[in-house]
Amino acid sequence: MLFNGPVTRDWVGWHDEYATPGSALARRLEVVRGHLRPLLDRPRSVISMCAGDGRDVLPLLPAGSRAVLVEGDPVLADRARRSAADGVTVLTADAGTTTPYAPVAPAEIVLACGVFGNIADEDTRRTIAALPSLLAPGGTVVWTRAGSEAETVRDVFAANGFAELAFTAPSDARFRVGVHRLTRAPDPFLPDVRLFTFT
Ligand SMILES: C[S@@+](CC[C@H](N)C(=O)[O-])C[C@H]1O[C@@H](n2cnc3c(N)ncnc32)[C@H](O)[C@@H]1O
Repeated sequence: MLFNGPVTRDWVGWHDEYATPGSALARRLEVVRGHLRPLLDRPRSVISMCAGDGRDVLPLLPAGSRAVLVEGDPVLADRARRSAADGVTVLTADAGTTTPYAPVAPAEIVLACGVFGNIADEDTRRTIAALPSLLAPGGTVVWTRAGSEAETVRDVFAANGFAELAFTAPSDARFRVGVHRLTRAPDPFLPDVRLFTFT
C-alpha cells in the first residue's frame, strides 16, 4: 500500500531534534516511553498513527506483540521497518483513514504522538470519536499535543468514553502527553473511514 499524499514538510529533518539531549522532543520521547513501558508489560497489539521512525514504541515492544505502524514518509517508514521485530508491520500509507489499521484492529494500545498538533481541531474530534472502533475493550491511547490546546484534547477524550490514566505537563516545556483508557464498549471496526488530513 503506497501513500502518495502531499509532503507537508521535512519530517525527516524534524526528527533530528531527538538527537539533541535535553531538547523538548528528546524529553517528550522519554515521557512517552515512560507511559508506554507499563502498558507493554506483555505481548500487546499496537497501532501507531503517523509513527515517524517508531522510536517511541519499537524498542519497548515485548516479543510476540503485533503492531501496525503507519507512516507517510518513505524514509522514516524504512527506518522504522529496519528496527521492527517479527510481528510488526510498517506501512508507508495514509494514517488518516482507518483502512491501514485493519490487520491489527481492535488493538490494545493506540499511539497518536505528533498528530493532533498537525490537524484541524475538527479532525482531532473526529479521530478521537473514532478511536473506540480501533481499540479492544479497555484499550489505551497515548497521545501528545503542545500547549493549552491539550486541555481541549483531554475534554474530547472525556466526552467519548475515555478515562484519563495520566497527563504529563512539564512547567518548563510546551509538550503535553496524555494517556486515556476506553471505559465504554468499543465500536465495530470499519475500513475506509476518514479520520484526519494533515495540514
Ligand atoms: C510530528 S511527526 C511525529 C512522528 C512520531 N509519531 C513521533 O512522535 O516521533 C508527524 C509524522 O506524521 C507523518 N505524516 C504526515 N502526514 C501523514 C499521513 N497522512 N499519513 C501518515 N503519516 C503522516 C510525517 O511524515 C511525520 O513522520
